[in-house]
Amino acid sequence: MKLGIPTETLPGECRVATTPDVAKRLVGKGFEVLLEAGAGIAAHYADDAYTAAGVQLVERDACFQADIVLKVRRPSEQEAAAVRSGAIYISLLESCGDDALIARMTENNVRVLGMERMPRISRAQSMDALSSQSNIAGYRAVIEASARYGRFFPMMMTSAGSAKPTRLVVLGAGVAGLQAIATARRLGADVFAYDVRPETKEQILSLGAKPIELDLGESGSGEGGYAKELSDEAKARQQALLADELAKAHVIITTALIPCRPAPELITEEVVQRMRQGSVIVDLAAANGGNCKLTEPDQVVTRHGVTLIGYTNFPSMVPSDASAFYAKNLSNLLEIMVDETDAGPDSSGLVLKDLNEDEITKAMLAGS
Ligand SMILES: NC(=O)c1ccc[n+]([C@@H]2O[C@H](COP(=O)([O-])OP(=O)(O)OC[C@H]3O[C@@H](n4cnc5c(N)ncnc54)[C@H](O)[C@@H]3O)[C@@H](O)[C@H]2O)c1
Repeated sequence: MKLGIPTETLPGECRVATTPDVAKRLVGKGFEVLLEAGAGIAAHYADDAYTAAGVQLVERDACFQADIVLKVRRPSEQEAAAVRSGAIYISLLESCGDDALIARMTENNVRVLGMERMPRISRAQSMDALSSQSNIAGYRAVIEASARYGRFFPMMMTSAGSAKPTRLVVLGAGVAGLQAIATARRLGADVFAYDVRPETKEQILSLGAKPIELDLGESGSGEGGYAKELSDEAKARQQALLADELAKAHVIITTALIPCRPAPELITEEVVQRMRQGSVIVDLAAANGGNCKLTEPDQVVTRHGVTLIGYTNFPSMVPSDASAFYAKNLSNLLEIMVDETDAGPDSSGLVLKDLNEDEITKAMLAGS
């Protein structure tokens, strides 16, 4: 059974869908791994490391002729058209609701699996790319903030004077937010965190941060571990109650999102105006409209003396580990998609299972 891994073509995307270590495991399992030559270079994985792992380096077109095409990002028009009929295509699809491009692929008899459609059940945790990549984003966001902030994060006492610790607030304590808290704590910041789901309080405390608790008059806990959207009244109350806490912050890492909904506006312009000059906001919700209206996607801007960072692809800024985690997610998924037999149809010993029989692959199938 052939796996095809082309180079990612989206500008600025440095990740790759498999690494030499993971490819070696896949080859050991019986897969033939075809990688576009040079596909791992931006993530610092050289071609010869792949060949040493048993990977065949091929031209780009050959990757799309494989039985299963593995990518990180949503397919481009050309990529979608290049996947052969009867094949399986797996990547993040980065879309909500109707998706004409993916519909054309399924009409062409390509089965498309969206990594963000992974169900949030314990069995699927090792395949959950949203979590693995959010974790990296949370880490990298804090590193970016610390590099752009003109002061120390930790308390610092020196013969030339002392510095107070940075007051850092994390908004949204999901996977990215919790990693942001842990990273900021390691750097010595004084960390506060807020989430609309009350159950996050214990997690915030366990990482040594102080929870910010607000009485919104309704719970923000929704189904499947996700937050639910608040009523307009509760949203307004939340903004008002948060304002004083946020205005005191020197750095804010904001991660609040509800899948397929515009990001909630948690930081108003008035709050930004009240923050100390040189403060930094990293808005991990920038691609979905931002938790602050002043954020500009993929830009770093200064407004009212505050630096707003709107990068939308933090995982790609840690490309080696982000690729390694994503590749592991894919390889764990592939394991549940195939059965080992004495001789599969192509004598690899692997046969594809019915994707509708497993709740994980069934949920991931686009158009199902
Ligand atoms: N397989 C699994 O079991 C699995 C996988 C992934 C995540 N999870 C769980 O799901 C939960 C959410 O994780 P995530 O990081 O993917 O979330 P996410 O990326 O969807 O959202 C980020 C955070 O923003 C919060 N948020 C949304 N609206 C908000 C608002 N108005 N104000 C403040 N905060 C707001 C959410 O509650 C969430 O914690 C976590 O408990 C996580 O552990 C479980």
